[in-house]
Amino acid sequence: MSVCRSGKTVRSTVALCLLVLPALAQAPKRYGPTIESLDEHPLPQWYDEAKLGIFIHWGLYSVPGWAPVVHPEHDFTSQDYIKNNPYAEWYLNTMRLDGSPTQAYHREHYGANYDYYNFAAIFDKEIQRWNPEAWAQIFQDAGAKYVVLTTKHHDGFTLWPSSIPNPTLPPDRQHASRDIVGELRAAVRKQGLRMGLYYSGGYDWTFLPGPIREAADYEKVKPQSEAYGKYVDAQMRELISGYRPAVLWNDIDYPKSGHPLEIMAEYYNAVPDGVIDDRFGVKHADFKSPEYQTLNQISAKKWEECRGLGRSFGYNRAEGEPETIAPDQLIDLLVDIVSKNGNLLLDVGPEADGTIPTVQMERLQALGAWLRQNGEAIYGTHPWKRASGETAEGIEVRFTQKSLALYATLLGRPKGPSIIVKSLPLKAGAKLFMLGDAKPLSWSQRGNDLKVDLPAALPAQYAYVIKIVEPSGV
Ligand code: GLC
Repeated sequence: MSVCRSGKTVRSTVALCLLVLPALAQAPKRYGPTIESLDEHPLPQWYDEAKLGIFIHWGLYSVPGWAPVVHPEHDFTSQDYIKNNPYAEWYLNTMRLDGSPTQAYHREHYGANYDYYNFAAIFDKEIQRWNPEAWAQIFQDAGAKYVVLTTKHHDGFTLWPSSIPNPTLPPDRQHASRDIVGELRAAVRKQGLRMGLYYSGGYDWTFLPGPIREAADYEKVKPQSEAYGKYVDAQMRELISGYRPAVLWNDIDYPKSGHPLEIMAEYYNAVPDGVIDDRFGVKHADFKSPEYQTLNQISAKKWEECRGLGRSFGYNRAEGEPETIAPDQLIDLLVDIVSKNGNLLLDVGPEADGTIPTVQMERLQALGAWLRQNGEAIYGTHPWKRASGETAEGIEVRFTQKSLALYATLLGRPKGPSIIVKSLPLKAGAKLFMLGDAKPLSWSQRGNDLKVDLPAALPAQYAYVIKIVEPSGV
């Protein structure tokens, strides 16, 4: 290390090092509440390399657990969307819209005058059966490297025993009776995963109930009172100091009366390798967070796609097989995102007692099985020169790279014994393998195109990875 080379004699060098090194070790970078300072925060390597996180939407809305199964395209701004919102975690908003299917559902199952916050007592009873260790095991088996839990969604109910009183809810309806945030954090970390926290800073229907009826209300229903700003700052501080989240995932902007830059600086100073999403409504973020949308090219800025396994984030009992992403599509989606510098934050919507719906479990298991064999092409990789290509028979290909290897993943099952990947000239001496099969593959060049002879039996069920190692790298 250069600071230790300047001493004239061995003894003075040692003395200098003894003086300087502890001082260096004790002085991590301090961040201040300005965009310039926050922008100096480097993207932590763990987050860049993790590629897969599990998002969890769990709360009072998991009790009714219902939304209409429409709008697969998530066209948020259409008038019809708001009344038919497929997000079950929006139940409290949608049930108040006259003529909405959610209002009819609520009337039929609970009665027109049944208050949403009555669900608190039911939720508290149901969560007694919840086993955080089992969840952590499921997420680990699915191949996730981090978890992000809703600590407070738009309904204002918190999943940790916040000491900041909510002025509008009775004390027994403000938060869950178990410290879900703390218990899950402990279980997840025991599995070697990191724990991130989602917080709805923008909407809190206990402070400004709305409802949101039309597109213009999306902005109007954000509480901006002094009291709310203080409340959000205080809850954020409580989450940061109490749980030191690996990801601070705010939603729907931050109240103007609050102090987002101060909170971000305090967060980095407490958790230097933490990451912040781009939904604080300020010009600083470690990553972009498109929702139910992917990018069509490599993005220099890190991004994280979030979406549910189905059409909703929160549990929707009306969803089944047809509304849930198919295993092959899910794996193709992950490969596509990673080839473009993204992570996938894949959401599960557990039932009120913590049961993860069977259709969702099946997807998590398929993903985990594929990653156990092919994770080398995903974790710790970087985008290559280009994200995509195709074979002569029209199968889509996605590229990732890591040290000396290039990974070409086929998003479809080849029909014949060989494939031709278009525009992929390799250097002589390159070695090719299919992940899951130890035998090298024979290959040849057809002009610029690459012909590869495939193993007689393909070693995977979905997305086949060809690993290419060139003597001097790719
Ligand atoms: C949206 C929705 C919300 C969901 C979130 C996840 O902003 O309002 O229900 O929690 O995005 O990205």
